[in-house]
Amino acid sequence: MRWATHGKPSEANAHPHLDCTGNLALVHNGIIENFSALRNDLLASGHELRSDTDTEVLVHLIEDEISQGLGLAEALSAVLGRVTGAFALAVVHSSDPDLVVAARRVSPLVLGRNGDVSMVASDIPALLGHAKEFFVLDDDQLALVRPGALEVRNLDGSPVPLRPRAVEWDLEAAERSGYPDFMSKEIHEQPQALADTLAGRLAEEGSLRLDEDRLSDEDLRSVDKVFVVACGSSLHAGLVAKHAIEHWARLPVEIDFASEFRYRDPVLDGRTLVVAISQSGETIDTLQAARSAARQRARVLTVTNVVDSSMARESDAVLYTRAGPEIGVAATKTHLTQIVALDVLALYLAQVRGLFYSNELSLLLDGLRSLPSLVEETIERSGEVQATAERCAEAGSFFFIGRHVGYPVALEGALKLKEISYLHAEGYPAGELKHGPIALVQEGSVVVAVATRTPLWEKVASNIAEVSARGARVVVVANEGDTETAALADDVLWVPKAPSPLFAPVLDVVPLQLLAYHLARLRGNDVDRPRNLAKTVTVE
Ligand code: G6P
Repeated sequence: MRWATHGKPSEANAHPHLDCTGNLALVHNGIIENFSALRNDLLASGHELRSDTDTEVLVHLIEDEISQGLGLAEALSAVLGRVTGAFALAVVHSSDPDLVVAARRVSPLVLGRNGDVSMVASDIPALLGHAKEFFVLDDDQLALVRPGALEVRNLDGSPVPLRPRAVEWDLEAAERSGYPDFMSKEIHEQPQALADTLAGRLAEEGSLRLDEDRLSDEDLRSVDKVFVVACGSSLHAGLVAKHAIEHWARLPVEIDFASEFRYRDPVLDGRTLVVAISQSGETIDTLQAARSAARQRARVLTVTNVVDSSMARESDAVLYTRAGPEIGVAATKTHLTQIVALDVLALYLAQVRGLFYSNELSLLLDGLRSLPSLVEETIERSGEVQATAERCAEAGSFFFIGRHVGYPVALEGALKLKEISYLHAEGYPAGELKHGPIALVQEGSVVVAVATRTPLWEKVASNIAEVSARGARVVVVANEGDTETAALADDVLWVPKAPSPLFAPVLDVVPLQLLAYHLARLRGNDVDRPRNLAKTVTVE
């Protein structure tokens, strides 16, 4: 069942959708925005629609074109000229069962081939282990897919040469390899993912390198403002980056939800660097935010995990996280690698702006290099986190609090818990709790405080005292050996001390991933495929 956009998830609304004759069948990811008018036209001309979906109009429109004598591909092209919105779709007709015609606009679509077998999917991990060659469709292209034969055309019928994409991921990376689920596998892969993301970026002489850098250092020196756009966990990595870029590169950073950014009137120009963060590189809100920034002449730099994703192809510069495919819907290893990739970007911006003494930079680079093994130590404490989860299992409500870079950690901890355990959770800046949410804190609530040693530790400690006094169970994320912090809490999630306060989120978020994971498992939930959520959201 695809993500429901129109109509409830039900058998009648499930894909594929059929036309009136039953000869055509179509599956679709995306949203047809003008479906309502099209649907009324179809009903008026005697079509019988059986679902509440936007998708179903497509198959009836194709039916009309075919009845006028067009072939399947031509009929589809004609219909796609009339629809607005986003789609990745595939359609078959019973008269030619070996032919699948697929097309895309905005929503991603990839093709695969292995000898006589041809494949169509929304993303590359779905084809790993099956396809030997991979091809990515561009907007407004369609593919004629037959056993062993692929042909790509533009909507006007002109041919498009096939260019295979390099895919380094292998099947093993997309299998559970002995772990009970992908989420735990991906949490355990974090040290390697971080090491891979840093590899080759930190040259011996201390200089930094980006991937696919179509921006010169001169371009970067002219930047006078950074704007971060992202969604979900990627936005939380962006909040950490705001601190890092402002602190090291001394550039003002604005940040917004991609879905909000695109519909307001942000102040951008040719000196603005827009940093678009997206694990998939396909989230429609982030993709459209980046496109609207580019239209306003801003430079766009994408941080993504997927080589050749739509955002990677359209941006001025790309910084790849090298986390390997992430299958669990809740982001873990991609989130951590985003934070370090963005740290690299912040240091790079500082470097081109001439703000570092070389010994200062090399100390920070050493700090970054030590993160994989520190994360490894943190993951080894999973059993302790599980015991804490068991003690909190009956709580009705969770509040995650933190300050400075601990605030995005709190947001991410709350998001993970909501996503996979379905428990009520809120992430809040610790100092803001007293302006409302503290009214909800009572016996039976759990407050998880990010209380590692940063310059704001004392402030966080006072905020913990406030919630303790109101009967909450307090869980702290604290640095190993910090008995003073432990004394404030009922439970402690220990993490090593970060080599720089700005790197602390890379370590502090790990026990919160594990807490959400263990609570979800205790409740018998499917941690990899949480209800109502999709890995990549290609609808607005
Ligand atoms: C979905 C996923 C989240 C993810 C968000 C942004 O909601 O469930 O885990 O953080 O999309 O995805 P992106 O691919 O743009 O990072």
